[in-house]
Amino acid sequence: MYIGIDLGTSSVKTVVIDESQQVVATSSASLKVTRPQDRWSEQKPADWIAAVEKTFTELASANAKALSAIRGIGLSGHMHGATLLDSADNVLRSCILWNDTRSHEEAATLDTEHSRNLCGNILFPGFTAPKLAWVEKNEPEVFTKVAKVLLPKDYIRLWLTGEHVSEMSDAAGTGWLDVARRDWSEELLSACNLDKSNMPSLVEGSEVSGVLRSEIAARYGMSANVVVAGGAGDNAASACGMGVVAPGSAFVSLGTSGVLFASNESYRPNASSAVHTFCHAIPDTWHQMAVMLAATDSLTWLSGVTGKSAADLTSKLEGHNYKPTDVLYLPYLGGERTPHNDADARGVFVGLSHSSDVDELTNAVLQGVCFAFRDGLNALAASGTVLDSAFAIGGGSRSDHWVSMMATVLNIPLHRTIDGDFGASLGAARLGLAAVEKCDPLTICSTPPIDSTIEPLSGFNAQLDHHYERYKATYTALKPLFADRLG
Ligand code: XUL
Repeated sequence: MYIGIDLGTSSVKTVVIDESQQVVATSSASLKVTRPQDRWSEQKPADWIAAVEKTFTELASANAKALSAIRGIGLSGHMHGATLLDSADNVLRSCILWNDTRSHEEAATLDTEHSRNLCGNILFPGFTAPKLAWVEKNEPEVFTKVAKVLLPKDYIRLWLTGEHVSEMSDAAGTGWLDVARRDWSEELLSACNLDKSNMPSLVEGSEVSGVLRSEIAARYGMSANVVVAGGAGDNAASACGMGVVAPGSAFVSLGTSGVLFASNESYRPNASSAVHTFCHAIPDTWHQMAVMLAATDSLTWLSGVTGKSAADLTSKLEGHNYKPTDVLYLPYLGGERTPHNDADARGVFVGLSHSSDVDELTNAVLQGVCFAFRDGLNALAASGTVLDSAFAIGGGSRSDHWVSMMATVLNIPLHRTIDGDFGASLGAARLGLAAVEKCDPLTICSTPPIDSTIEPLSGFNAQLDHHYERYKATYTALKPLFADRLG
């Protein structure tokens, strides 16, 4: 048996699989994000551990036999977060998350042609490196105490094993990794007044990173010698869960963030398109992805202001075919990465009338997120990656209406599998299996059975293209106003 733990932004999802990769048990525990100031987005690392403990406790009471047979654990987690530890591994401040853009000025300073050549990417404000530059400038008393910088899931590894270790797919999102060489870059680190001693050691996602501490094993009825694999950043982990490992295969992830992920045959950076080029979790493989900051997060926002749950908001639309709405929504609640790299951009509705009701706003929000994905599809195409189909995963992929709208807006068929929402934890568990069995991770990360394929709707392409052009023009027109927002 193997455990996969996915530290998501809104919950920890833990899955247990058997030797034949069948899901035996699952458990989740929710998490909150705090936004103490505009641009800020934080979580307390202690809350991650409490959430993992909650899922372990539930699994140990309902599935004690499965837990006693665990041989390996794999980890997945939201990427880029800066978890700052002192020399005794005490947490120095709340973790600054992937969708926090406070370090936009530091990012602009660090992002040079040379840094792009070394790390293959724009140094987005959401990446880890600019966050450390912000801490050095604004919280110098914290910065001087930083002994290690860990990514969020690697802090869970520290709790599980006592080791400071990361792996390539998540390390690629720090802005400190030489992504082609798969090693820390002293040059990129020194630009932030850090060096390799501040970094965890590196393994591949399917390699062993440590062994479960005996105290934790005993607490949850697991045996000695449970191996913890490198694992992956949540997107590469989802790809391992969905079998998106062969060149050309892809997924659309409707999670808190929106991600269009494609596996590539080699390292193919194209920073100017604002596409991310990272190491995959499997040795000697790389991937590209377009990342949008607020996908289901946009619906969660609408849910907060209307007092209706996301399921209530979409329920009236389910069962009806998508028709383009001329009310536009720009999903830039906290800025945007692909394609704009604009931390100042904000959300917008265009075209409201007296008759605009909650259903129309909901439809506009769903459509706006799909348009953001179409931007992402175009950015990938500009980097030489053309997709002809993709898997739909993440919480938002449970909505038939949204997936049909997405297939139509992207004009590609989308496949769904039964457990798409657990894709990242399944991928992590598979990496745990690969580390224990020492077998080829490419074979283990196969495609789960396809439950349904959603084809694009036809009949209104010209109308759709027209609204997409209006959507793009809205951002272009408002860009100067976003930058001038604070007067
Ligand atoms: C990827 C990214 C997000 C987070 C949260 O670059 O920032 O997808 O990993 O899921």
